[in-house]
Amino acid sequence: MHTRAMVLPDTDSRIDLTVPTLEAHVPDYESDIERILISSEEIQDCIRRFGEQITADYKGEDSLLLVGVLKGAFVVMADLARHIRLPLEFDFMAVSSYGMATKTSGVVRILKDLEHEIEGRNVLLVEDIVDSGLTLSYLLRNLRTRRPKSLEVCALMQKTEVQQVPLDIKYRGFEIPPVFVVGYGLDFGERFRNLPYVALLKPEAYEGAIT
Ligand code: PRP
Repeated sequence: MHTRAMVLPDTDSRIDLTVPTLEAHVPDYESDIERILISSEEIQDCIRRFGEQITADYKGEDSLLLVGVLKGAFVVMADLARHIRLPLEFDFMAVSSYGMATKTSGVVRILKDLEHEIEGRNVLLVEDIVDSGLTLSYLLRNLRTRRPKSLEVCALMQKTEVQQVPLDIKYRGFEIPPVFVVGYGLDFGERFRNLPYVALLKPEAYEGAIT
C-alpha cells in the first residue's frame, strides 16, 4: 500500500504548443484537422443532459433497448449508456445505402439486423449524425412495422440545412452546417472515429475523395 503522496511530473514540459487550438489526442491526425467544431466538453455536457432526460422519461418503464446504428454511433452510445441510470439492453443495426441514385428514394440495405424482438418494447435509436435524414427515415419506417411500444431517436448532430425528409428527433444535440465532419464516431476513410471531439478536416485532406 502506498503511504506517500504521489508527486506528479511537471506537465508543462509535455504540452505540445505546435497545435494550440487542438487537443493533441491522436498526433498522427493533427495535420489533417482544420479546427474543432464541437469540443469534447460540449459533447460530454450534451450527452450527460441526454442521459438525465432519458432517465427521467423512461423511469418506471419495464425496459429500454438502445439501438445503435453502426458504425458511427458506437461512441455516442457507449457514453450515453453510462449516463442513463436505468436497466438497459443493447442492440445494433448496420445499414448501407444502395448508392446515390437509389439513396434519394430513402432505401437502404440492412447489413446487420437486430438480434432482439422489439414488439411491445421501448426502443431508443441512437445516431451520431443525421445528414439527409434518409437513413433514419428508413430505419424508423422499418422498425415501426415491428410494433415497438415506443420508438424515439437520440442524435448527437443534425445537418439541418440538408435534411430532405421531416424527422421527429426527440433527443437532438447540435445543429451543424452542411460541412464534412469527423471525430466522435465519424470517419473519413475509417480514420478519425476515435477523436473525442468533432472537427473539420483541411480541404487538402479530402480533396478528390468527396463529391
Ligand atoms: C452516417 C451516420 C448515419 C448516416 C446519416 O453513417 O452514422 O447513419 O450516415 O446519413 P443520412 O442522414 O444522409 O442518411 P455512414 O453512412 O457514414 O456510415 P458509418 O457510420 O459506418 O461511418
